[in-house]
Amino acid sequence: MSDMRNEANYIVEQVDKHHDWFGDSLPMIASENLISPLAREMLVSDFHDRYAEGLPGERYYNGNIYVDKVEIKAIELAKKLFGCKHADVRPISGTVANLGLLKALGKHGDNITHCALSDGAHISTAKFGAVGLRGLVSHTYPFDTHEMNIDVDGARRTILEVKPKIALFGLSVFLFPAPVKELKDALDEVGCYVWYDGAHVLGLIAGGKFQDPLREGVEVITGSTHKTFPGPQHGILVGNPRDEKMERSLNAGIFPGVTSNHHLHAMAALGISLAEHIEFGAEYADQVIRNAQALGQALHERGIKVLCEHKGFTASHIIAIDVEEHGGGAPCSQLLEDANIIANMNMLPRDTKPKSPSGIRLGSQELTRIGMKESHMAEVAELIKRVVADKESTSKVKEDVIKLKADFKNIHYCFHDGHPAYERFHLV
Ligand SMILES: Cc1ncc(COP(=O)(O)O)c(C=O)c1O
Repeated sequence: MSDMRNEANYIVEQVDKHHDWFGDSLPMIASENLISPLAREMLVSDFHDRYAEGLPGERYYNGNIYVDKVEIKAIELAKKLFGCKHADVRPISGTVANLGLLKALGKHGDNITHCALSDGAHISTAKFGAVGLRGLVSHTYPFDTHEMNIDVDGARRTILEVKPKIALFGLSVFLFPAPVKELKDALDEVGCYVWYDGAHVLGLIAGGKFQDPLREGVEVITGSTHKTFPGPQHGILVGNPRDEKMERSLNAGIFPGVTSNHHLHAMAALGISLAEHIEFGAEYADQVIRNAQALGQALHERGIKVLCEHKGFTASHIIAIDVEEHGGGAPCSQLLEDANIIANMNMLPRDTKPKSPSGIRLGSQELTRIGMKESHMAEVAELIKRVVADKESTSKVKEDVIKLKADFKNIHYCFHDGHPAYERFHLV
């Protein structure tokens, strides 16, 4: 065998080992999820090998007869799911959707209001991320760290004083609904574009839970389609642009603004995930939130500090735990990984050092997707506590993680109609 064939085999073997490892693990990273077997099939279809630029019927390439039909269907499903008049299924990630929106609606020197990174915002909305790249001037909302949410009175003052061109809501540590309707009076007075970065909570919103931004005063939602929305690694932009000019700008912001080819295989997978979410999304989203709250309660009962006990820990898929007394986020998340519990360290509001934070962020969405319910969250909490607080041998806990996971090998909340894709991509 040639040297390069050996190198290629090496890569395949590592991916194979990764599959085995994740099959035996509890994946709890809040930004990840399992795509359905049918949608996964689309990712290896010939769509992957093709190019399309622009919108259906207005392409710059030939060969798009079926690509156009898929894109038209995906747009139709997205509009139905989010109850809106505009949908763009071309952004290739949440960050790209954000960039496209900023390209469309903002220009150098415009003011933008948003949450601070230290309060859980994402880097794409920070000065050194997409917002900075576009040259917008950042103004952050005051944040109530006890409530883990925007301080409404302070934010109203900021909006009225700064008069932003764009007001952004949305977080990566998104525990409670953003106070959009509470701030609607100020947003209306200023007349700014109201943008919601729903990357994390998209699947919950689409399932009719968490909050309903488009009915609360938001004009455009951007999002990742692979976090709580259980679809492909891709992005989306949905909303109700105020006029045709805004709609045209949004379209141009995505293409030619920040994309060329829009990853047609992922777009096809997204179409399937949208259809599945219309059918199963409400039940899934409800269970995701119940599970997160049950996990928070179970950890709290085991002496682990969970943020926002006074508010039921969370209204989303995320809970944040404070593990400073157990050594901090970095060593604790490493111990969890050694025990096959995959989670990430996270800064808590008082932290200043991203590499040595006091917290860990845990998401319930993927465990929900494999069929776990509230009672299983108590078992998961016990395993976490044994690692983090009791410092029990990680290899012993790992054995118990593998035993628990053995009962959860199927993906739920998606079609199981005997399509051959299901047999071939049964990868949990
Ligand atoms: C609030 C928020 N916006 C945007 C993104 C970026 O999404 P993507 O990874 O799809 O680019 C993230 C990712 O975690 C996020 O949390």
